Amino acid sequence: MFSRIADRYDLLNRLISFHFDTFWRKKAVEALALRRRDPIVLDLGSGTGDLSLTAAREIKDGTIIGLDFSLRMLQLAQEKKRRLPYGRRTAFILGSALAPPFKDEVFDAVMTAFVLRNIPDLNLFFRLAYRLLRPGGRLVSLDMFPPSRFPFSFIYSFYFYRLVPWIGAALAHDRSAYQYLSDSVKTFDSPETIAELIRRTGFEGVKVEKFMSGAVCIHGGEKPRMTKQA
Ligand SMILES: C[S@@+](CC[C@H](N)C(=O)[O-])C[C@H]1O[C@@H](n2cnc3c(N)ncnc32)[C@H](O)[C@@H]1O
Repeated sequence: MFSRIADRYDLLNRLISFHFDTFWRKKAVEALALRRRDPIVLDLGSGTGDLSLTAAREIKDGTIIGLDFSLRMLQLAQEKKRRLPYGRRTAFILGSALAPPFKDEVFDAVMTAFVLRNIPDLNLFFRLAYRLLRPGGRLVSLDMFPPSRFPFSFIYSFYFYRLVPWIGAALAHDRSAYQYLSDSVKTFDSPETIAELIRRTGFEGVKVEKFMSGAVCIHGGEKPRMTKQA
């Protein structure tokens, strides 16, 4: 499904979010709060590379590795990175976030954007992210959630659950993919449930930053310097 919509993915993201997606990704990169020089950062489910490239632009040094299981998404990321001066500090790898091809404790940060809702086993996803991080490394996730507060939740439901599948059909010629997007948000866990899951994995200082009445959230947490086994 992701390969099918890849060519129109960026356009639809900008339209559906009224361009806010670029702002949220920048906020997610800020939430990494990197302390080391030349950090190595992993982007799980990197898609067309927007989060990786935002990180490369904002962080100024270091290396960003994007991992995704959609070849078409990665091809588009590869094309995009060639056009950007900071693109040379990114690398895109084909693989699954649930079987990442990396050694333990090699990354200073693990980030992910708009991926959690597609993961069948979130416990495993967070455990693997924990293992890949160096002690003191940070996990940051940006994602969409069902908004909690009226009247925003009411307006949002109409827009996101009714209009978005229609926009997907008209512009990406793929109603089912955008119906899936809409359904995956509607049926997703609350931000608090995800925060608790991250905490239970062993992360410390877990915080949630909410935008638009919680329709978009950034979760962040740190792997303890004295590590527990995840
Ligand atoms: C909604 S897109 C988000 C892309 C990008 N992170 C962004 O900010 O636009 C979700 C991406 O996650 C990828 N994905 C989903 N499950 C995955 C998994 N288990 N392993 C690797 N990639 C995955 C999909 O191929 C897709 O490119």
